[in-house]
Amino acid sequence: MKIINIGLCGLGTVGYGVYTVLRRNADLISARAGSNISVTHIGTRSSHSCRETESVKISGNVFQVAEDPNVDIVVELIGGTAVAFDLIMTAIRNRKHIVTANKALIAERGQEIFFEAEKNQVVVAFEAAVAGGIPIIKALREGLVANDVNWMAGIINGTSNFILSEMASKKREFQDVLEEAKEKGYAEADPSFDIDGTDAAQKLAILASIAFSIPLQTKNIFKDGITHLQPRDITYASELGYAVKYLGIASQKPTGIELRVHPALIPRSCLLSGVDDVLNAILVNCDALGSSLFYGRGAGSEPTASSVIADLVDISRNITTTNEGGVRPLGIKLTDIKDKKILSIEQIETCYYLRFSMHDMPGVLSKATSIMAEVGISIEAIIQKEQPVGVDYVDVIVITNTIAELHLNKAIRKIEQLDTVQGDAMIIRLERLDQV
Ligand code: HSE
Repeated sequence: MKIINIGLCGLGTVGYGVYTVLRRNADLISARAGSNISVTHIGTRSSHSCRETESVKISGNVFQVAEDPNVDIVVELIGGTAVAFDLIMTAIRNRKHIVTANKALIAERGQEIFFEAEKNQVVVAFEAAVAGGIPIIKALREGLVANDVNWMAGIINGTSNFILSEMASKKREFQDVLEEAKEKGYAEADPSFDIDGTDAAQKLAILASIAFSIPLQTKNIFKDGITHLQPRDITYASELGYAVKYLGIASQKPTGIELRVHPALIPRSCLLSGVDDVLNAILVNCDALGSSLFYGRGAGSEPTASSVIADLVDISRNITTTNEGGVRPLGIKLTDIKDKKILSIEQIETCYYLRFSMHDMPGVLSKATSIMAEVGISIEAIIQKEQPVGVDYVDVIVITNTIAELHLNKAIRKIEQLDTVQGDAMIIRLERLDQV
């Protein structure tokens, strides 16, 4: 059986998972790959995590792995975009195939990497970069290749899903749950990326590029974080039959493409609403299949290793057969990727959950609703919450029907200026996600 030599760069949570699963399932992986996949060189700065053996070389400098003539595939698990980019480019120029879990790098510099890989006739695979162990890249690029994708809505950041789930089920405070997510190793090295939308936007950029054959791009993705959400909004949403989830949405509209990451109310009847804890799920709606849901662990050692090893096996199968006709990283030739108009957030049309703090006196509500009517907002539900005795202001919750965000904002600005309205309105988008 042919031996495929792996150079593993980074022996952190994911790297160690790859090493462990490759060893535990060595026989079945080899049988499926048609070759013996063997880690022969590890690049790691943590000397205590493993010892050099006769068959495994350890280097403190990861570039030695990229330049090792015995290595066939370099697995990049060091993260970040600076050294990781140089490492991957060096490995490609040394004619190594690449497997990476680095969403930031693929989202920001994927096209440069793929171009270089094409020139050197090597493969770059990145299944683990989006939604950890869920094979969503393969599903979009291969399983759904016949379909025109209408829209995708995904819970693609486990940390924020864990935070929202705990806030909803146990009424815990945001900061307290974030600390637990950090301790459990779900959060990024910089946890602000999990809660400000950076991590989810990078993953969405990759999914959207494959689904819509558009360039990888993060700067055109609208991002809104979860730090401003209040437990009472999650409670009110629940009373109205909705869950609050942190979604990445990519949607093809006649006027352009919507790319956005933000918290959203979704109906309890939508399958995504039951995706709790640190789990991920992506709901894909396309023309031939209709809706399908991809659900599983989006982070963690062995779930992510599952995707890394799937890429290793794919590449190994190609090496032992032929590179011709292989699947391209973004599904089509780089030269066939076309820029399409990305809609600004004011151009999107959706429904909204609004919470106002209003003076509890006659006529206040009708003023606000007539401002909404002026810009064409149709109200689907409105409720006034009871406040404790002695409190003059009450929470008023409005659920709107579909309206352009531009028009919604105009109305909100006017309502916020009323003397009888206190502070800023809470605005959360509401997505019906009809699963046709
Ligand atoms: N911090 C990420 C998350 C890890 O919480 O989803 C996986 O990309």
